[in-house]
Amino acid sequence: MLGPGTIARVIRVAFVGKGGAGKSTLAGTFARLLARTDEPVLALDSDPLPGLPYALGIPVDDEPIPEDVVVPGPEEGPRWVLAPALDADTVVSQYAVACPDGVRYLQFGNLWGHVATLQRAQHAWSQVVRELDPDAWHLVGDLPGGTRQAMFGWASYADIVCVVVEPTVKSLHSARRLMNLSSASWGPRAIVVIANKVTAAGEMPAIEDRLGYPVSVVVPAQPEIAASDRLAVAPLDASPHGALAAAMQELVDHVSGLYPLAEEVAT
Ligand SMILES: Nc1ncnc2c1ncn2[C@@H]1O[C@H](COP(=O)(O)OP(=O)(O)O)[C@@H](O)[C@H]1O
Ligand SMILES: [Mg+2]
Repeated sequence: MLGPGTIARVIRVAFVGKGGAGKSTLAGTFARLLARTDEPVLALDSDPLPGLPYALGIPVDDEPIPEDVVVPGPEEGPRWVLAPALDADTVVSQYAVACPDGVRYLQFGNLWGHVATLQRAQHAWSQVVRELDPDAWHLVGDLPGGTRQAMFGWASYADIVCVVVEPTVKSLHSARRLMNLSSASWGPRAIVVIANKVTAAGEMPAIEDRLGYPVSVVVPAQPEIAASDRLAVAPLDASPHGALAAAMQELVDHVSGLYPLAEEVAT
């Protein structure tokens, strides 16, 4: 198990999957356990209906950056840009919310809560992830359900995409589509499949068979995880040594062990 200060390089992961599969629950728990290595972790939320704050252990579900942070761009340039006085690192240091274990949380999916502002949010988002000091933060992203954002590059900061799959027909169908991400233009360099809400070990061969891909981490179905959701307590706080914490620690170790990624070795 990784202890403080033992991660050699920056980890960039994004959690994808069908709505309700458990992306936010897993991503928030993963981010906090990663932060316990004493390294800076930035949780990036692009879901317009955010579930990540609760899993991180903060009592907010809407904490958008202020509206005047994003202004119209220059005539020949992008439609929207960060205000000239700001750069990506300043946006993070000023507006990312402090969470337990030292995680910082930046929300983009719900900027000012209106669909018309989505394009603005999208420009701000891509500028921040593009211009952020690439070595300053481990990045843990939580995407909305489905394939849309993932396929359109909202997760392009990620080296590794964690596909969260429940053992249901629809969830497996979503996951199979998301596996095609490896051929997307921005192509993640590794895909890690996590089976969530598994009720019996016997389900695993069928899941792997239907995905055509091995499952790296299994999270059992646990009524107390859903119960902590209803009580608005982060599952890691409700059950610090429970099955979810153990599985996400396993994922931290697994993901850390994937670095350096193949392409980096080659360069
Ligand atoms: N392993 C699990 N066992 C039981 N309930 C779970 C598990 N993982 C997630 N849940 C519950 O499933 C629901 C959806 O999880 P959530 O993380 O919000 O999914 P997503 O972000 O993929 O939409 C929540 O009520 C959550 O508490
Ligand atoms: Mg969610």
